[in-house]
Amino acid sequence: MEKHYAVIGHPIEHSLSPVMHKAGYEALGVNAKYHRFDVEPRHLPEAVEGLCALGFSGWNVTLPHKEHIIPFLNTLTPQAKRAGAVNTVKIQEGQRIGHNTDGVGFVRSVEKELNGFKGKLAVLLGAGGASKGIALALAEQGMKVHILNRKLEKAEALVEVIQREGGTATAGALAPEGWLEEVDLLVQTTSVGLHGESFPFSVQGISEQALVVDIIFNPSETAFLHEAKQQGCRTLNGLGMLLYQGVYAWEFWLGGQAPVEAMGQALQDQLLRRMLNTF
Ligand code: ATR
Repeated sequence: MEKHYAVIGHPIEHSLSPVMHKAGYEALGVNAKYHRFDVEPRHLPEAVEGLCALGFSGWNVTLPHKEHIIPFLNTLTPQAKRAGAVNTVKIQEGQRIGHNTDGVGFVRSVEKELNGFKGKLAVLLGAGGASKGIALALAEQGMKVHILNRKLEKAEALVEVIQREGGTATAGALAPEGWLEEVDLLVQTTSVGLHGESFPFSVQGISEQALVVDIIFNPSETAFLHEAKQQGCRTLNGLGMLLYQGVYAWEFWLGGQAPVEAMGQALQDQLLRRMLNTF
């Protein structure tokens, strides 16, 4: 029987999830369709009921619904519980199960370049929802996590959550300090750079050993990543995280191994098409 999946968010027209998942279905001959629905926050409860009533097997959840959807679900996986946010829902025997693949998706996307996590220092810029999922997943891998945020109290609150989970974390002001020379992994998790703007501080003097990641993938190289590259660092944008959160969502829904290459290729092709259309 044909299965139906979707992504819900607001706005949603730029979501790359449909092309990624459809390419995966095609590659493995899975009889499924992936839809995209723009759901305004006030319509979230009816949207969840509607998806269930229509027989959807699962769906992805993106901004601004990742936290607000929780009361409408039956159970949460440990990953979703810990993050306090859901990006994947599976319907199993009528039960709505909330899961979160953002953190593991990020970990997987840096695994090869970082070559081991334990005892290494990760510095995260920003303390919002995206930072939380990544910080918890890195701490779970045994990294020391240092969180910098404009509003220091938000970084401190996140540090408390990580420590409660048994991780090692500290908070600091959004400024270039001594950590620049020691950092193994630097992650930019704020929205600064989406529209070509520069990050509030320079990473001049950063250790050349550092892997620097910006979770923004469009533009493919933010001013922040550009500067890190000029300093001799290895850099990654957020495309890998997007890919692997999708891969893990696929595997949560369908079991087996997702066709990573086909899904990644579809993402790259779609971004290229978009870039060409803007010229
Ligand atoms: P998300 O869920 O995408 O992470 P969010 O929860 O709104 O979004 O968090 C946005 C993050 O980007 C926050 O850490 C925010 O810093 P504050 O908590 O101090 O507001 C950060 N951010 C956004 N714009 C910023 C800017 N111009 N300079 C520095 N930090 C910024």
